[in-house]
Amino acid sequence: MTRVLVLNGPNLNLLGAREPQIYGDRTLADVEAMLRERAGRLDVELAFEQSNHEGALVDVVQGARARADGLLVNLGAYTHTSLALRDAFLAAPIPFVEVHLSNLFRRETARHHSLTADLAIGMVTGFGPRGYLLGLEALVGAIRDG
Ligand code: DQA
Repeated sequence: MTRVLVLNGPNLNLLGAREPQIYGDRTLADVEAMLRERAGRLDVELAFEQSNHEGALVDVVQGARARADGLLVNLGAYTHTSLALRDAFLAAPIPFVEVHLSNLFRRETARHHSLTADLAIGMVTGFGPRGYLLGLEALVGAIRDG
């Protein structure tokens, strides 16, 4: 069975309450439930991690290969700032798809650049919670294609 780890970064624990005009009203638990349902149909085993702490996220990325075939990641604001997370993906490579609820390119220029997207298989940005489902499908397809 394909194993996927879903990794969410800072402030995504507040999904649903946080800037709903940008991020919508679904909670992280709602997103996880949507993913679980889709994973069942795709024959995928899912695990979930969320942290507001950069170092904790680095630890998860470093350890990911031991527990997953691929990662679905939304690193929140660390996407734009964290050379440490970029280094973690370089140090312990694992296939991953990057997801953003909002369309980064419709937002402030500071959000236009991702320090990890060029290391990813691809990026899904701007489709809200559905982006996680699209990302999961794309990641699993890429893993199974080899
Ligand atoms: C985000 C976009 C980031 O710029 C922001 O800091 C987030 C969420 C998104 O999912 O749209 O926390 O990654």
